[in-house]
Amino acid sequence: MADRPAASTQHRADILVFFGATGDLARKLIFPALYGMVAHGELDAPVVGVAFSRWTLEDLKERARESVAAAIPEHDPAVLDALLGLLRYVDGDYREPATFEALKEAVGDARRPVHYLAIPPVMFGTVIQGLARAGLHTDARVVVEKPFGRDLASAQELDAEIRGAFPEEAVFRIDHFLGKDEIMNLLYFRFANSFLEPVWNRDHIASVQITIAEDFGVQGRGAFYDTAGALRDVLENHMLQIVALLAMEPPAYQGYGAVHEAKANVFRAIRPLTRNDIVRGQFDGYRDEPGVARGSDVETYAAARLHIDSWRWAGVPWYLRTGKHLPVTAHEVVVEFKKPPQALFDDAMMAQHPNHLRFRLQPDGEIALGARVKTPGEEFVGEQRELVVSTGGAGSRHPYERLLADAMEGDRALFTAEETVEAAWRAVDAVLTDHAPAIRYAPGTWGPTEADTLIGADGPWHDPVLQDDARRGSAHRTGK
Ligand code: BG6
Repeated sequence: MADRPAASTQHRADILVFFGATGDLARKLIFPALYGMVAHGELDAPVVGVAFSRWTLEDLKERARESVAAAIPEHDPAVLDALLGLLRYVDGDYREPATFEALKEAVGDARRPVHYLAIPPVMFGTVIQGLARAGLHTDARVVVEKPFGRDLASAQELDAEIRGAFPEEAVFRIDHFLGKDEIMNLLYFRFANSFLEPVWNRDHIASVQITIAEDFGVQGRGAFYDTAGALRDVLENHMLQIVALLAMEPPAYQGYGAVHEAKANVFRAIRPLTRNDIVRGQFDGYRDEPGVARGSDVETYAAARLHIDSWRWAGVPWYLRTGKHLPVTAHEVVVEFKKPPQALFDDAMMAQHPNHLRFRLQPDGEIALGARVKTPGEEFVGEQRELVVSTGGAGSRHPYERLLADAMEGDRALFTAEETVEAAWRAVDAVLTDHAPAIRYAPGTWGPTEADTLIGADGPWHDPVLQDDARRGSAHRTGK
């Protein structure tokens, strides 16, 4: 697949405007990404930060310095200086036309701006209207952060609001997982190889598990998190994107348009979740987090059983789980194959599913094929082993760097389309409100045990085991 097939149809932006310049996302991720873009020769256009913080350009530069120093201790001071030289700053209330007049002045002669909304979604509409009133939407692109809405209806409203000023081709919706190398590798590994396709279907696959586990809590984001929860924050977007890449049909032609279409078809085929398909959990202590309502029922853990009603996947359950304050931070997919039709060896059938393909997406990229291997000796007995390839390494860029560079280029390949965002909401919409109360779990555990009932005979859940653990790989199989 060509690397950047869509870019040639677009033009390169000549200025980057980012709203929310004094915020947390800018500090943690955007300045380091901008630094990386300058370092890789992808950014030489002016960058206008916008915020309502009573800051000056000097304050913004100071923030950029601190942020780059914290994220990239070994940074090159000359590159940082080059970035600082590109910065401009506009301070003002997003509700005031004067803010956009000042922005217009800062934009100056630039004609093809990218407007990046690194701000809470409630402000999207206000900023879009301000841009349109000031004529700053013409020939411009807009990059919006997730969460894109909080359910199907609000996502549709948001789309209508954005589309009032920008055509769909100019809207870049970020799901930063799509900018991760290991996620891109799911697509590559599936379609750059021929051995997988014959077995990648309901005839050979018993079930698929996807785990996005985090060993930390809400990290000072309680006020935001309490409006979202695990279903909206991770499952509806990041996890369903992973499902789509694993479940999609081969793209019909070379180019990302075909990937988008194939993914959209998966979303359309996902059977909407019902309350019996999910387990919600909340870690003990969540309600004491700053910004969280004392009686909050928001879930910090969600497990779901999903079905894709397509020819390829009929009858194959997909199990997803994500949570905060779990034992490790690791993202992993385990695809379990059906067992052999006959038991030729006494021990072989003891493993419920002797074969699996495991994709470790984070922290270290890894692809492993699980199989039974005979142990030395006269007996025909074996054990579960994994053939492992490490897929990580130098050269991978931070997803934000990649995605912002793509937005500047006009390459929409790694962004999500309106249709897919809405189809993803449709899959989870009912359970956002129709669900049992969140079940408490102790921090540092794998969440409520009710999730074991959800997975039932297709279990157990495969808890990712990190590399430094001597028993690496062993917890992926229980039926020795
Ligand atoms: C974000 C969620 O979208 O993704 C966070 O809001 C989550 O709650 C994060 O921790 C996980 O992404 P990453 O790239 O940090 O693993």
